[in-house]
Amino acid sequence: MELSKKHFEACCSFFLVFFLQQVFSKTPTGLVVRGNDTDQQALLQFKAKITDDQLRVMESWNSSIHFCQWHGVTCGRKHQRVTKLELQSLKLSGSLSPHIGNMSFLRVLNLLNNSFYNQIPQSIGGLRRLETLYLANNSISGEIPSNLSSCSKLTIVRMAGNRLTGEIPAFLGFLSNLKVLSFYNNSLRGSIPPSLGNLSSLEELALTYNALDGIIPETLGRLTNLSIFLAAANAISGTLPVAMFNLSNIRFFDIGENKIQCTLYTDLAITMPYVEFFSVRGNKISGQIPISITNASNLDVLQFNDNRLSGKVPSLEKLDKLSTLQLAVNGLGHGREEIDENKIMGRIPDGIGNLVNLEVLFASENQMFGPIPFEIGRLQKLNKFFAHINILSGTIPHSIGNLSALTIVGLDFNNLQGNIPPSIGKCQSLLELTVSYNNLSGPIPPQLLGVSSMSIILDLSSNHLTGELPVAVENLKNLGQLYVSQNRLSGLLPKTLGSCVSLEKLYLDGNLFEGPIPSSLSSLRGLEALDVSNNNLQVGFQNFLSDLGL
Ligand SMILES: *[C@@H]1O[C@H](CO)[C@@H](O)[C@H](O)[C@H]1NC(C)=O
Ligand SMILES: *[C@@H]1O[C@H](CO)[C@@H](O)[C@H](O)[C@H]1NC(C)=O
Ligand SMILES: *[C@@H]1O[C@H](CO)[C@@H](O)[C@H](O)[C@H]1NC(C)=O
Ligand SMILES: *[C@@H]1O[C@H](CO)[C@@H](O)[C@H](O)[C@H]1NC(C)=O
Ligand SMILES: *[C@@H]1O[C@H](CO)[C@@H](O)[C@H](O)[C@H]1NC(C)=O
Ligand SMILES: *[C@@H]1O[C@H](CO)[C@@H](O)[C@H](O)[C@H]1NC(C)=O
Ligand SMILES: *[C@@H]1O[C@H](CO)[C@@H](O)[C@H](O)[C@H]1NC(C)=O
Ligand SMILES: *[C@@H]1O[C@H](CO)[C@@H](O)[C@H](O)[C@H]1NC(C)=O
Ligand SMILES: *[C@@H]1O[C@H](CO)[C@@H](O)[C@H](O)[C@H]1NC(C)=O
Ligand SMILES: *[C@@H]1O[C@H](CO)[C@@H](O)[C@H](O)[C@H]1NC(C)=O
Ligand SMILES: *[C@@H]1O[C@H](CO)[C@@H](O)[C@H](O)[C@H]1NC(C)=O
Ligand SMILES: *[C@@H]1O[C@H](CO)[C@@H](O)[C@H](O)[C@H]1NC(C)=O
Repeated sequence: MELSKKHFEACCSFFLVFFLQQVFSKTPTGLVVRGNDTDQQALLQFKAKITDDQLRVMESWNSSIHFCQWHGVTCGRKHQRVTKLELQSLKLSGSLSPHIGNMSFLRVLNLLNNSFYNQIPQSIGGLRRLETLYLANNSISGEIPSNLSSCSKLTIVRMAGNRLTGEIPAFLGFLSNLKVLSFYNNSLRGSIPPSLGNLSSLEELALTYNALDGIIPETLGRLTNLSIFLAAANAISGTLPVAMFNLSNIRFFDIGENKIQCTLYTDLAITMPYVEFFSVRGNKISGQIPISITNASNLDVLQFNDNRLSGKVPSLEKLDKLSTLQLAVNGLGHGREEIDENKIMGRIPDGIGNLVNLEVLFASENQMFGPIPFEIGRLQKLNKFFAHINILSGTIPHSIGNLSALTIVGLDFNNLQGNIPPSIGKCQSLLELTVSYNNLSGPIPPQLLGVSSMSIILDLSSNHLTGELPVAVENLKNLGQLYVSQNRLSGLLPKTLGSCVSLEKLYLDGNLFEGPIPSSLSSLRGLEALDVSNNNLQVGFQNFLSDLGL
């Protein structure tokens, strides 16, 4: 035994020496340099596959300097072997040469945000020391190569924003050093492999925007270090494992736009104390909004919209970091037909005035009643406010004039009463205001028409507004659509309407307007739709229409 082992070693040594001699005899220098020569060769092959290099980065990759000094290349000091290849955001285009698999000392491969295309070569499995693989934001296609399973040191894998197809391979669950695994925005199919539950160091798992189906495996509930879990915009079904709500390090949790059916864990905010982003939007989630949300004081974004939730919105007064609150059927309130809707009831949540960081409040198509709280005027950052199709009553609080950041307000189909507050004229960022189908009365405040930023739509139709259409309408030079139909507006149409040169749609019908149609309207060259019917306007209208070419 002893003898044969020695014999074997001798034999192998002989072969090794013979092999090395063969190899070295082929190197141009004749030095003992196989490793770093291979690296140089691999880099040159990598360069050879680059088809577009607008910034001429690869020009520095020439024989006038040592390859360790080439742009983006870092070598180990002792061995002169390439340890890092970092070429992010350099507008490089090309395929990935299989030779990269020969740079066996490579720890970091960063080609982030370029235009690399074609597949990841199987030879990547040769990179046994690889820890960081950044390929995000390229055009890489094909499947995740099976030989990646040999890169057992991998810690960070970022492949977001590519065109990867096929399934998420189960072997990834054996790359036990993984902390980050991101395939955000690719075309992956199949289900999430349960083996990923073995990745006990995993901190980020990003799978949003793929075509994944199946369920969220129970095993993911074991990933106690997970702080980012993004699996939105897939076709995942089933229930959400309760253990997922127990991931106490979660900060970003997004399972929106799937087909998940479950109720929300009552102690949610207690078990996820650090949660900042929580979205279950666009699923089939039923039951109530967990009362514990009251205490989730780190929340920035909360999206419950487009589900089957019912009951009340708990008090949100402690959530002073909240910037987005979505409770509506969908963001724009243009409800999709036949859809399962939230039936969230109650008042606009108590303490809303404390949410001073709120930028987006979507509460459309629920059963919210009661007034819009006066305290809404404290939400200085509020940018979008949608509460269409509810049962809101009372007046529009004049404190709305405090909201200088408001761009879009949608309050159609409610029971709002009283005047439109003139203070709204102070909302000088408004692009869109729609309050149709309410019980608003009184005049149209000229101040409202002074908001010249208004460019998309102003819809005051189907209310009980009285008085004239103020001449101040001339300020709406950027407005595309104006609806004042079905009110009790009277008097002459202001000539200044002709100044609203961006108008594409103008609906004045169903009022008590009288007199002529101002000839100035013929300067509205972009007008596509005009309705002046059911008024007391004088004829001569046909001529006008033909002037406009309608
Ligand atoms: C390879 O490394 C050896 C020493 O480790 C060095 O003398 C030689 O110049 C290197 N060759 C290249 C091409 O970098
Ligand atoms: C080779 O690289 C050096 C610097 O890295 C650069 O100055 C030189 O212009 C390059 N030569 C060619 C022919 O591109
Ligand atoms: C991505 O690369 C482009 C150049 O192609 C650059 O303008 C942009 O800033 C880069 N993005 C990031 C996030 O680095
Ligand atoms: C490097 O990799 C390529 C392709 O994977 C292979 O053909 C070549 O033989 C390898 N070895 C060297 C020394 O370049
Ligand atoms: C990826 O590209 C998108 C869109 O061009 C850009 O917004 C994003 O910042 C990029 N990300 C990285 C990491 O380069
Ligand atoms: C892929 O890995 C297998 C098993 O380790 C190996 O035999 C094969 O050569 C690798 N393929 C490439 C292209 O490196
Ligand atoms: C997804 O990636 C593509 C490029 O592959 C990019 O154009 C698109 O903006 C990305 N979408 C998202 C939502 O990040
Ligand atoms: C990895 O996960 C799979 C499936 O969840 C399991 O069967 C397997 O035993 C796990 N392996 C290790 C090494 O933990
Ligand atoms: C989880 O995170 C903690 C704190 O960062 C760290 O000490 C621990 O090693 C991690 N656990 C694993 C399994 O990586
Ligand atoms: C949640 O974690 C606690 C302790 O960390 C444990 O007692 C409980 O069983 C877990 N619940 C679930 C559903 O995993
Ligand atoms: C919120 O936290 C307080 C203090 O920790 C606790 O007493 C209260 O029960 C919690 N409320 C809810 C609804 O979980
Ligand atoms: C308007 O905003 C100021 C400060 O931003 C605030 O102090 C005031 O209470 C707000 N007024 C109303 C009516 O909400």
